[in-house]
Amino acid sequence: MIPDLQDSTQPARRLNNIVLVGLMGSGKTTVGKLVAQSIGFNFVDTDDVITRAAGKSIPDIFSEEGEAGFRVHETNALRQLMNEQQCVIATGGGIVTQPHNLPLLKELGYVVWLFATPEILHARTAHSDERPLLRNNDPAGTLRSLLNARAPLYQQACDLKITTDDLSVHDVAYGLAESVRVAFAQQKPAS
Ligand code: S3P
Repeated sequence: MIPDLQDSTQPARRLNNIVLVGLMGSGKTTVGKLVAQSIGFNFVDTDDVITRAAGKSIPDIFSEEGEAGFRVHETNALRQLMNEQQCVIATGGGIVTQPHNLPLLKELGYVVWLFATPEILHARTAHSDERPLLRNNDPAGTLRSLLNARAPLYQQACDLKITTDDLSVHDVAYGLAESVRVAFAQQKPAS
């Protein structure tokens, strides 16, 4: 269901971007690129914004500055994107863990939570060693606990949740693009 974006108790949000949230392996980058291509938006990934600005990789930031240091970079990346228009923005899975990021996500655009079960997330992330939080001997268990802890935060942040388990990336991208088209079209013209 497409939620009503014109909550009369809040000033109307002007939605120009699509913001993807969800755990590692939920498909934010793959789906985000497909959606951007299909609707003619640019694609941006907050992890790329961070690595460019910091001049080092995400694993290096974690090992030199800790997770807390990484979260500061992440908020700075969000702030840096605030003037973007017509972008699909894929965010890191932990962006919702900082309460001050939630209003920034909402301000940035229409927020879509790509949900998948921990088993699927594990299968999708097992091939890569790029995620510091999964470099341990029980990445599947880590994904389960992260999902438990973060699900209420994704729920709070999102305008739309898509369960991706049984869908191809193309199906998710198609559904997302269509939903966003409707949501953007429902906006009242700026006064
Ligand atoms: C993280 C997710 C990663 C990256 C970092 C931390 C997390 O991004 O930001 O490793 O806390 O879930 P992806 O969700 O794009 O893998």
